[in-house]
Amino acid sequence: MSIALSLGTICSILGAVPILCPEEAALHYYLFTRNNMENPTQLFLNNDNVLSGSYINFTNPTKMYVPGFLGSYQNSDSQDVKNAYLYTQDCNMILVDSSQLLPFLKRNIGLSYDAQPIGVILAEFIDYLITKGLKLTDLELIGISLGGQAIGIAGAAIKTGKPAKIIGYDPAGYEYNSYPPEKRLDETDAQLVIVIHTNPQMSGYNQSCGHVDFWINNNLTTQPGCTITEVIARGAFDTISYVFCSHSYSYHVGVYAVYHPNAFPALNCTSYDEYANGLCNNNDLQYVGDQVTASAQGNYYAKAGNEVYNP
Ligand SMILES: *[C@@H]1O[C@H](CO)[C@@H](O)[C@H](O)[C@H]1NC(C)=O
Ligand SMILES: *[C@@H]1O[C@H](CO)[C@@H](O)[C@H](O)[C@H]1NC(C)=O
Ligand SMILES: *[C@@H]1O[C@H](CO)[C@@H](O)[C@H](O)[C@H]1NC(C)=O
Ligand SMILES: *[C@@H]1O[C@H](CO)[C@@H](O)[C@H](O)[C@H]1NC(C)=O
Repeated sequence: MSIALSLGTICSILGAVPILCPEEAALHYYLFTRNNMENPTQLFLNNDNVLSGSYINFTNPTKMYVPGFLGSYQNSDSQDVKNAYLYTQDCNMILVDSSQLLPFLKRNIGLSYDAQPIGVILAEFIDYLITKGLKLTDLELIGISLGGQAIGIAGAAIKTGKPAKIIGYDPAGYEYNSYPPEKRLDETDAQLVIVIHTNPQMSGYNQSCGHVDFWINNNLTTQPGCTITEVIARGAFDTISYVFCSHSYSYHVGVYAVYHPNAFPALNCTSYDEYANGLCNNNDLQYVGDQVTASAQGNYYAKAGNEVYNP
């Protein structure tokens, strides 16, 4: 997609992407740590005072979560991911909020939405944190849907190297299915790229795109808990939740796997059917999630159920 600039004040140009001045950049960053699990500190590009007054501690690992289309840090996926990582690990958890992004996108790329500007803006923020002590070997990017594609763009756009790890929760499909690797998540974007696929035939990316690709429950269009009655029964009903339930299932699996790292054994195999028929029982076994071993590589198939809704 070419980005035609119309209005707005350009502060810098990164690659081919014009970056608007910070007050207009409209990606927001909320830091949570074990010292402030519920009350985040909002961080800003190039604002050293706020950063040094926060609980950020670069001795600990840093995780960043990028939600889907115009996602708020207050949405349940962001909150669930934050709680899971902070519960299990002393880390800096930064929730990236794109809920204010629409005016920026409308002004800069018309009405369409693309992971490219999000990734590039995020990379600029990461580059700033690196000057303050963040080490790329301690950095993990987590993202769902469009956020899953944006973290790929971000990983590749960081100036000083690649993040240690990326985990994509059902990265967006649609037009991304036919995008070249530089415009989407691919295995060159981090030292280790892990992907959890749950809805490849509808909203999710439909091919392998990581070092390790987990395919959950074949490529069901309706994942566990995603019939209309089940969505209503969970008290989570609205049209979006229902339509994207099998897509969102990816983060439920990811979050559950943070709390329960051995919950979903997965086997390296050439198809779900061969896996389900036991033909891959002697192949490499990994557990779904971001704790894969160094030898992990390729497509892995696994089953998961309704337990993911109660981590
Ligand atoms: C930063 O984290 C390290 C490791 O968890 C800890 O030893 C240290 O006390 C922390 N620093 C501050 C200022 O809290
Ligand atoms: C993925 O989607 C693209 C674009 O719709 C399509 O051309 C391709 O055949 C699909 N691949 C798979 C494996 O479904
Ligand atoms: C989904 O499963 C069907 C039948 O098992 C298969 O033909 C198709 O290629 C699969 N698509 C993807 C994206 O894996
Ligand atoms: C998984 O299978 C693929 C394709 O058969 C293969 O290239 C890859 O090396 C396997 N991974 C492991 C860890 O054995």
